[in-house]
Amino acid sequence: MSDAIDYFTEAHSVDAVNARMGSETDARLATVMASLVKHLHAFVKDVELTQDEWGFAIDFLTRTGHMCDENRQEFILLSDTLGVSMLVDAINNRRPSGATENTVLGPFHLDGAPTYPMGANISLDGKGERCLFEGRVVDRNGDPIEGAKIDVWCDNADGFYDVQQPDVQPAFNNRGVFTTGADGSYHFKGIRPVAYPIPDDGPVGKMLAALGRHPNRPAHMHFLVTAPGYEQIVTHTFVAGDEWLTSDAVFGVKASLIASMKPVEDGDTQWKSTFDFVLTEAG
Ligand code: BEZ
Ligand code: FE
Repeated sequence: MSDAIDYFTEAHSVDAVNARMGSETDARLATVMASLVKHLHAFVKDVELTQDEWGFAIDFLTRTGHMCDENRQEFILLSDTLGVSMLVDAINNRRPSGATENTVLGPFHLDGAPTYPMGANISLDGKGERCLFEGRVVDRNGDPIEGAKIDVWCDNADGFYDVQQPDVQPAFNNRGVFTTGADGSYHFKGIRPVAYPIPDDGPVGKMLAALGRHPNRPAHMHFLVTAPGYEQIVTHTFVAGDEWLTSDAVFGVKASLIASMKPVEDGDTQWKSTFDFVLTEAG
């Protein structure tokens, strides 16, 4: 680097910072950090950030960090609401056409949910409208996949996950793991999921309000589908007709993931949602 840009100037700010990187820096780290500095400086220059605005940003990030603990991850909510989680997911989970699309995992998945036989009811609190979830897990030729694990979770009828109300809901309410047989089919009972707001009592909620955005997610059932020899799918099915489908606070909706929700009269079951999962061969 020439002497002219050894000192920091507005015009050469990017070079001044990136030139400090040591030659032994890991190649990927160097690529990522050089690009981050380039785009961050371009942003600051583009909006001509004021001292007050920069101070506010530092305070916002500090409050975001203070909001985090083992049950609450405000930075993930920030990433989700800025569309970054969905963008990283899209880049890293490109699927061939016809294969089921991925979407965000969200903060409410739990390892170790109960394993149930097909047909079991995952709703343990007795609330909500009963719904049968059914379909098949198949490969891209439409052939059934035996031994696929289907890990499901959703909110209760009041719009809260069990982990948000540990003193109110039974543990593992509206969660379960099912394994497909030779025909690749699955069916289980739960409730018709309801729309709910993402946690909005922290800095991210304030940001959404300042931007005139609502915090709501359309009603959905989460699915994590795994099978030996296939790429895992982290996805949700969305309830057709939900009022928030086109304005999901975390941008998780894809047209291909909207599942039918049909009224049925079958004992205590009022609804049926059908969705087939199409897995891609690993590698
Ligand atoms: C969820 O669907 O559980 C979720 C996803 C992103 C942020 C908050 C909740
Ligand atoms: Fe959810």
